[in-house]
Amino acid sequence: MCGIVGIVGQEPVAARLVDALRRLEYRGYDSAGVATIHEGKLDRRRAEGKLFNLEKKLDGEQLPGLIGIAHTRWATHGVPNEANAHPHFVDGVAVVHNGIIENFSELKDELIADGAVFTSQTDTEVVAHLLAKYTREGLGHREAMLAMLNRVSGAYALVVMFEDDPGTILSARFGPPLAIGHGKGEMFLGSDAIALSPFTNEITYLVDGDVAIINHKGLEVMDYQGKPVTRKSQISQATAFMVDKGNHRHFMEKEIYEQPEIISHALGHYVDFASHTVKPTDKAIDFSKLSGLAISACGTAYLAGLVGKYWFERYARLPVEIDVASEFRYRELPLSPTQAALFISQSGETADTLASLRYSKDQGLKIGAIVNVRESTIARESDAIFPILAGPEIGVASTKAFTCQLAVLASLSIAAGRARGTVSEAEEKAMVKHLAEMPRIMSKVLNDIQPQIETLSRDLSRFKDVLYLGRGTSYPLAMEGALKLKEISYIHAEGYAAGELKHGPIALIDEHMPVIVIAPYDRFFEKTVSNMQEVAARGGKIIFITDEKGAAASKLETMATITLPNVDEIIAPMIFSLPIQLLAYHTAVFMGTDVDQPRNLAKSVTVE
Ligand code: M6R
Repeated sequence: MCGIVGIVGQEPVAARLVDALRRLEYRGYDSAGVATIHEGKLDRRRAEGKLFNLEKKLDGEQLPGLIGIAHTRWATHGVPNEANAHPHFVDGVAVVHNGIIENFSELKDELIADGAVFTSQTDTEVVAHLLAKYTREGLGHREAMLAMLNRVSGAYALVVMFEDDPGTILSARFGPPLAIGHGKGEMFLGSDAIALSPFTNEITYLVDGDVAIINHKGLEVMDYQGKPVTRKSQISQATAFMVDKGNHRHFMEKEIYEQPEIISHALGHYVDFASHTVKPTDKAIDFSKLSGLAISACGTAYLAGLVGKYWFERYARLPVEIDVASEFRYRELPLSPTQAALFISQSGETADTLASLRYSKDQGLKIGAIVNVRESTIARESDAIFPILAGPEIGVASTKAFTCQLAVLASLSIAAGRARGTVSEAEEKAMVKHLAEMPRIMSKVLNDIQPQIETLSRDLSRFKDVLYLGRGTSYPLAMEGALKLKEISYIHAEGYAAGELKHGPIALIDEHMPVIVIAPYDRFFEKTVSNMQEVAARGGKIIFITDEKGAAASKLETMATITLPNVDEIIAPMIFSLPIQLLAYHTAVFMGTDVDQPRNLAKSVTVE
């Protein structure tokens, strides 16, 4: 989603604003812009496409000024062109915005009737017009800001400069995040702390309903009525090195190869590698007393939750209600305070997941957040935080966050099983031992399968449609494999429960549709092989992802068989994630797509 930065500086700001925007590139965007005030005049440069287009403009026509705001836009209202790029200017007011102004259409009609002339198709421009109108009518800047905020509805982070006050930036948050950075004689604001990491690590996070004003004196926060509120600053762990690709071609590749190291770090938080026991979990959620769990998330995080459902139900005998957050939030699902709810989100800012969290909180449930960004809104609104400790994930396609989410869910389900007496001490030890072996096995698998997957990906890149099949925990993995492939290679892919094949998708099987079957040699193996036979009988091309026992047991002819080591079922979903990630990655590289920032996608989806 859109990225926002602002600086009230003592040195020229344009280059620093663009540098900070670069750190927000991972959020996804399709145009960018920067505005400053210099010698009492607002000026801006905007460009369609990637940041280098904006930099080219700034090279040609420099933008002096000690105060400025900047933006990367992920189009919602209006095509991604220069006219729709932010900042939007109206009569000495400059505005950048992340989110959606839901009532923009009625406001626009009203403003047009009043004589306003719009120059973009965006919802954002109504904000600039409202502010201009209120200042024309005699309101001061902060009063105009409050009046505007009391007219707009929706989800937004808004940042504003007034040409006649070149020392102040005003902002407001209702939905998408905003972080304020405290520097030495300078103040900053950004969509997250990573954007501000080269400037300062002292950060104040705004909460919904906050209006913040920064100037050389510091930060002032108030509510929408103008009543002062206190927000404490904290020292952020975000650092500038986080945007380094190292020796890798893409962040996604780097993030795939980081998994063995990162997952061991994440596991260390939840299990004791010496005693092979799970560590006590946050007391805010007492698994022993729960009647059930509700889990909600979006995209890849949802699919991690689906694997978690299998684990919680099997090991802790805890019934799990799970849904994608965009449905969960509106289903009017009857929940009970005897249940707890877990929300899984890499960013911790996903709008639908946050809304589902708030719905569950209102029903009296204890809330657990499985998040990567500990300072995120979802984390801050939860009773218990279960960090996944994956480090910043920059590639839009989630990889290491997924396997770390799985590692956390596996550990929590064992802990829940122990608390509920459904997992014995011996079973706990055995499962934790398997988890402890996982980083080593991941390293080996990544090295061993890479050449085969690269060759196979060249073949896969020639197809238009792909079907993924799996059973048990391999079913969510099949959906994750399909999601990964479609989002970065743009090949149409679907993930199905293998048993559902004959209820519909079998009609699609022919030699033009490879079927990727995920089947470790587990209790479902024979049944999945029967489904593979149904595919083979119809001329389908099978890519078989299995383990050594599975490869030995299956006699079917395949287009390729990717053989992984035999592993225990508690770690199989993490190990089997690796070939599906690499397959998507190399296929996308062959297709020549923008692997780290695939078209139309955003890393952090802060609107509905
Ligand atoms: O930040 P979140 O984990 O809440 O994001 C959820 C989804 O938007 C995300 O997993 C998305 O599906 C990824 N692009 C998948 O690779």
